[in-house]
Amino acid sequence: MSEYIIEGGNRLYGECGVQGAKNSALPILAATLLCEGKSDIYNCPELLDVDATANILMHLGCVVSRSGHRVTVCADSASGTEIPEPLMREMRSSVIFLGAILARNKRVRLSTPGGCEIGLRPIDLHLDAMRKLGAVVSEEYGNIECTAPDGLKGATVSLSFPSVGATENIIIAASTAKGTTTVINAAREPEISDLADFLNGCGAKISGAGQGTVVIEGVKRLNGSSHSVITDRIAAATYMAAAAATGGNVRLVNIIPAHIGPMIDLFEEAGCKIRTDCRSVNIEAPKLLKSVKMIRTMPYPGFPTDIQAPIGAMLTKAKGTSVIIETIFENRFKYIGELIRFGAKIRADGRMAVIEGVPVLHGARVRTTDLRGGAALIVAGLASEGETVITDIKHIERGYESPEKTLAALSGKIRRIDNDGSEKSD
Ligand code: EPZ
Repeated sequence: MSEYIIEGGNRLYGECGVQGAKNSALPILAATLLCEGKSDIYNCPELLDVDATANILMHLGCVVSRSGHRVTVCADSASGTEIPEPLMREMRSSVIFLGAILARNKRVRLSTPGGCEIGLRPIDLHLDAMRKLGAVVSEEYGNIECTAPDGLKGATVSLSFPSVGATENIIIAASTAKGTTTVINAAREPEISDLADFLNGCGAKISGAGQGTVVIEGVKRLNGSSHSVITDRIAAATYMAAAAATGGNVRLVNIIPAHIGPMIDLFEEAGCKIRTDCRSVNIEAPKLLKSVKMIRTMPYPGFPTDIQAPIGAMLTKAKGTSVIIETIFENRFKYIGELIRFGAKIRADGRMAVIEGVPVLHGARVRTTDLRGGAALIVAGLASEGETVITDIKHIERGYESPEKTLAALSGKIRRIDNDGSEKSD
């Protein structure tokens, strides 16, 4: 089992870039299934989830080649309509292939992605939307089959919750449907706009992405194109939390400050000085952070649920008591049990966590429970006195590209030890 070894107590300082957005790359790669010819997707982060997505594309018959951060997909011979259970289990967000396979081959069969560490993750909104677009959907014993022998037809889909994945599946499926589709109460995350930008570059006619109502006018064909994925706003905010937790002074370049707007207010409330220009952000933290009265996670442009755990870890050494309310997922406080091993005073009750700042954290041996909970353990380890060992780091490597390299570039003392005890080399 690979591990991170962290020597805590060192201020992070310096400058670094941030990876491409995982939650943008995955739907865009799924959408290449609809395109004729080659699509070159640049700035794709090198992550386990991108590997899993490439495996699914190849299983469906696509030709996929990769070079560094570029993934090239040719779907011309992709006749597959099924995602086998092992591939579905490898990455629950593979549900994002639903709309693309159905739109391309008029049939899709997959097993319910099932819950994950952070919640049940139902997909009822996705399936109801496919029915609205004309698909016949059957679900039994955890297997889902959608068929649309006459192809999909445009419709108005009103989402009861602005689901990111459901919005993405609708946009992808509707891009080549007959007629126009309107999505009401659509998710507004930047990754939705990035997906729409890619599809429009392939000849789609999508307007309003990033707002509450998205209109997709179906077109007959999409041609593969080149696209560079936006920077990962969650990874950026994670490294900002690590800088803040260590009293550091860090500049992140090549990011989109507008995408981390909701987090900037929080860092300033905690006493950090934030400076931004069009493509960078600088965070300068005080020796002692201030607590934050109330953090409530919300759909974009509210405070993102994905940064809740790293921020929770950052606040364990703040002066005073902070409260986090998690409104999106029902089980996103699992990391708290591990934070307590550092000496944190934090307790969770249902959707609420109360964090009482302590003067010192001590390095500990901890286990990663999920992707963002794992990032929280890295933040806590960097802010602790002494050595921290983090195990089960595959969860973290699903969403963060070589965090040990990024943090080492900021003078963080963190090493990645492989199963056989060797250190990861370039
Ligand atoms: C996306 O998940 C992201 N994943 C998540 O990031 C992120 O936390 C989430 O959006 C919210 O921003 C990817 O983009 C790959 P949702 P998704 O559908 O699409 C309920 C990370 O750490 N819901 O917006 O699954 C659901 O249970 C991951 O990078 C239904 O009830 O999120 C949840 O309570 C974690 N029925 C809420 O909506 C449905 O059909 C938000 O889910 C779909 C969702």
